Amino acid sequence: MARLLLVSNRLPVTVKVEHGEVHVTRSAGGLATGMKGPHERSGGLWLGYPGDVSRLPPEQRAALEARLEDLRYVPLHLSPGEVSRFYEGFSNGVLWPLFHYLLDQVPIGERDWESYRRVNERFADLVAAHHREGDLIWVHDYQLMLVPGLLRKKIPNARIGFFLHIPFPSAEVFRILPWRTQLLEGLLGADLLGFHTLSYLRHFASSLLHVLGIEANVDRVFTEGREVRLGAFPMGIDAAALSTLAGSPEVDAEAQTFRQPGQRILLGIDRLDYTKGIPRRLLAVERLLEREPSLRGKVRLVQVTVPSRTNVEAYQGFRSRVDELVGRINGAYATVHSVPIHSMYRSFNERQLAALYRAADVMLVTPLRDGMNLVAKEFVASRTDDDGVLVLSEFAGAASELADALLVNPYDIGGVAATLKRALTMPQGERRQRMQNLRQRVLENDVHGWAQSFLSTLEEQSEASSGRS
Ligand code: UDP
Ligand code: G6P
Repeated sequence: MARLLLVSNRLPVTVKVEHGEVHVTRSAGGLATGMKGPHERSGGLWLGYPGDVSRLPPEQRAALEARLEDLRYVPLHLSPGEVSRFYEGFSNGVLWPLFHYLLDQVPIGERDWESYRRVNERFADLVAAHHREGDLIWVHDYQLMLVPGLLRKKIPNARIGFFLHIPFPSAEVFRILPWRTQLLEGLLGADLLGFHTLSYLRHFASSLLHVLGIEANVDRVFTEGREVRLGAFPMGIDAAALSTLAGSPEVDAEAQTFRQPGQRILLGIDRLDYTKGIPRRLLAVERLLEREPSLRGKVRLVQVTVPSRTNVEAYQGFRSRVDELVGRINGAYATVHSVPIHSMYRSFNERQLAALYRAADVMLVTPLRDGMNLVAKEFVASRTDDDGVLVLSEFAGAASELADALLVNPYDIGGVAATLKRALTMPQGERRQRMQNLRQRVLENDVHGWAQSFLSTLEEQSEASSGRS
């Protein structure tokens, strides 16, 4: 198998320097957790941003670089200005909300495009410097959409794949972007473009037609004498590994400690992101308690929110909005013995997450829009006991695969509350049947099969493409 060069904005570890001490922590988010296994198996390199290490003294920095090299990570260091413009300004201020259909979160102003373009160039330069004949290059996500095109110019016969981890929006929304042409042309530098679902692929094809006048032939596009292949590859997780961890006696024992007699646990685990539907989820729990007095004191929502993108404007006021709602609901429905919303603003390690998944009666995954949502799949993989109910937003990519979840429209608060009641009162036989079906799907379509299927399509496509034998 060819050597693999993974390229993403964020490396799977994030370095933090606090009071002169270096902390290397695992990065949150589906891309980082998901690609870790394929990277370990491939023996190749992973190029990306390791976090801000600018304040490290030279010897500590050298030690850190050596540690990253051992892990086969190649750091691309971003300056504070690049973090503010490329990462916070353009990638997460403009592209992230627009691709999730949340246009009101897009700020006015154009200054950050230039930085986006320049950082994409820096990534392409770094990849080109490490590239060897025969490598497969796999670029990831919306922060790096120009990289395939830039690389194609530098290394015309390189084998380049690109995967988008977030939704590709409808052409009507995409074409709002003043930089729509450059972004599409950047993507078309790849041999293979992968999306989580067929509907994202169709949106992309329709954007090509409306913006560039290029018509796709089902899953192929011809441009500048080359053929670019399009594919839907729904990403999976390392299901067998998580299943083993979640079924271990240690995790089982930890899960037991989370349970309280006579109380059911609803669980939410998300980065603190306005796309995840947390406020409406809280309102749905409130509605449930309002409608069902008998459930008061008997259900508790354990909500883990992981700090994320704290310097981006739209995220800043959001935390206090969530806290206010939690406070209001707890104020109204707490008893001396229990609070209905148990909210934690921090990250957890894999083992603790597995124990939380195991302890939950109902998992609430209710994003307003989500490319895939791996948390939903992690919950399923963890349920070695074939129990627990998954309530899943129909606007998450995972919904097109997980038909045995209870699907909800997250904007319909009353509907979510009613579904919660249904989940809490679902007979054990039905819970078991649904979970078994879900598990089969998640275990069979794991992240290794996903990576393999993407990479073999890329190899096939780059062989077929013109100018190469
Ligand atoms: N996650 C984590 N630490 C936490 C909570 C979650 O690393 O404290 C991981 C979680 O296990 C999952 C990922 O973050 O793999 C979230 O991925 P998802 O696709 O659900 O959403 P994203 O954050 O990528 O939008
Ligand atoms: C989502 C994106 C990833 C990103 C992750 C965490 O999963 O698709 O590209 O890495 O969120 O966000 P962050 O901004 O911290 O990298």
